[in-house]
Amino acid sequence: MTHVTPLKGARERRVHTGGVELCVAELGDPRQPTVVLVHGYPDSKEIWSEVAERLAGPCGLHVVLYDVRGHGRSTAPRPLRGGFTLEKLTDDFLAVADAVSPDRPVHLVGHDWGSVQSWEFATVQRTRGRIASFTSMSGPSLDHFGHWINARLRRPTPRRVGQLLGQGAKSWYVYLLHTPVLPELAWRGPLGRSWPKILRRVEKVPGGDYPTPSLPRDAAHGAWLYRDNVRSRLRRPLTDARAHVPVQLITPVQDAFLSERLYDDLDQWVPRLVRRTLPAKHWIPRTRPDQLAAWIAEFVTANEDGLPQPAATGAYADRFAGQLVLVTGAGSGIGRATAFAFAEAGARVVAVDRDAEAAARTAELALPLGAPAAWAEAVDVSDEQAMEKLAEKVAAEYGVVDVLVNNAGIGLSGSFFDHSVEDWKKVLDVNLWGVIHGCRLFGGQMAERGQGGHIVNTASAAAYQPSRALPAYSTSKAAVLMLSECLRAELAGQGIGVTAICPGFVNTGITSTARFAGVDAEEEKRRQKRTARLYGLRNFPPEKVADAILRAVVRNEAVVPVTPEARLFHAMSRFTPRALRRLARVQPRL
Ligand SMILES: NC(=O)c1ccc[n+]([C@@H]2O[C@H](COP(=O)([O-])OP(=O)(O)OC[C@H]3O[C@@H](n4cnc5c(N)ncnc54)[C@H](O)[C@@H]3O)[C@@H](O)[C@H]2O)c1
Repeated sequence: MTHVTPLKGARERRVHTGGVELCVAELGDPRQPTVVLVHGYPDSKEIWSEVAERLAGPCGLHVVLYDVRGHGRSTAPRPLRGGFTLEKLTDDFLAVADAVSPDRPVHLVGHDWGSVQSWEFATVQRTRGRIASFTSMSGPSLDHFGHWINARLRRPTPRRVGQLLGQGAKSWYVYLLHTPVLPELAWRGPLGRSWPKILRRVEKVPGGDYPTPSLPRDAAHGAWLYRDNVRSRLRRPLTDARAHVPVQLITPVQDAFLSERLYDDLDQWVPRLVRRTLPAKHWIPRTRPDQLAAWIAEFVTANEDGLPQPAATGAYADRFAGQLVLVTGAGSGIGRATAFAFAEAGARVVAVDRDAEAAARTAELALPLGAPAAWAEAVDVSDEQAMEKLAEKVAAEYGVVDVLVNNAGIGLSGSFFDHSVEDWKKVLDVNLWGVIHGCRLFGGQMAERGQGGHIVNTASAAAYQPSRALPAYSTSKAAVLMLSECLRAELAGQGIGVTAICPGFVNTGITSTARFAGVDAEEEKRRQKRTARLYGLRNFPPEKVADAILRAVVRNEAVVPVTPEARLFHAMSRFTPRALRRLARVQPRL
């Protein structure tokens, strides 16, 4: 068995309650707001080590963790049966809260079963005035869950039946935990031995220092959490299960045990609810401690100061708030609008462009829109080494990117025979190689992290619409489209979505920078002006493309034509390709 991550600098005390002795650890200044972290199954308080250190250190909070009864270094109730009811767990929480913060309500944070029991604390009347806020991760209220099931059984539309079956399949382990003796034998035997490996390989939990040596005993005891509570509460959920505290719900979208749909009806139970979503698997206290500490500290501060909770500003705030989004070609047009849309949704934004000033301006303007942080990076996406340096810097300073938008691109028009070899190289270097570098480097980090994410590549309607005017440009975009499809297939198993965005004519600066092969400088200027005028008349705003990009990430769409003409050509390429080819022959050259 591997070693426990020690809680560095923690002060320990024992709290006696209801015939058990709880092991309680404290970090940070007790005069500061108190955060109580409650662990899940089959864990102990050490699951929170990295989050706790950040909350007590840089965030300056008073952090309290305890081993739930029967886990870690807390003693187990005798007999076990009936010793783990939600009522008894509530007694334990109140005893800990009274010991560590007798005069002030505490901020509660729960993961997995720690969250399931914390929902009880946040909804029963006897804890009123003892809890200032509750942050919930991967553990629903059993009462809300019971009502969720009942609502779907009462009105079983195909969608609702699908939701029931989806969650039913994810709950396989709950049925097993209700069987007698079997879970205990498995945990003391092969499952207990291979658990660290399962966490590393399947859940991508980093390091070899987890779980605790007491795992087989903890896991065997913890089976009673399920047996003492799940069946009875799901069958007869309490009707008055409204939260009397503000709640922050953090949902990892790759959770193998809980469907996102489980929280669809939550607003009816929680009057003050903030939703956050994270590309991650189940064990986020170990895999995303930075992000969790930042969100918990923000929520604690908002509820200590009586300030309004972070308002959902943009339409996608609950989906992208706090996430790290990198956009290339962010200095202008579609890239800048996309950076702004993610900023409005509360994401942290890295604006990359070869034009340093334009990138800096985007980052500067993103902050007042709602981005908690925004950085500018002047990099040419076609420069392999510069991109490698950028990827190293971003990972070291800002973290692994959650959403990558490979958008930088250049235009080139003219007949095939007017394109020089240099022309081809330039277009392919930026439009295709830029995307390859982005996917390879940032996508590689995403895959290695193992917690999911999303890659958006800006292709174009030109990817599927042949033309006499854009042979190199269209070829580069067709390649981006196919690259996106291949990568989507490859990364699907790792929870990383890949989208190819295919806009038609969008009113951006690309018309004044696009090159025209085979003509002199004066003629090129004239054609640029004419194209700019035409695109201006068409007047499709880049903000609409940005909106389509955010929607595509939320829905994990594969190929997204944007603008009516892009959708028409996409349909034609599938159903009447001959007509599209004929159109290409008669289309005027720009
Ligand atoms: N505007 C359209 O009608 C349209 C249609 C379909 C697809 N697209 C694609 O959308 C993307 C964005 O185009 P836009 O219309 O917003 O153009 P734009 O010219 O307004 O913006 C492109 C940005 O990319 C930057 N850039 C160019 N080459 C770069 C490089 N090598 N490294 C880093 N940054 C670089 C530019 O400095 C600029 O800020 C491009 O890939 C383009 O091909 C545009």
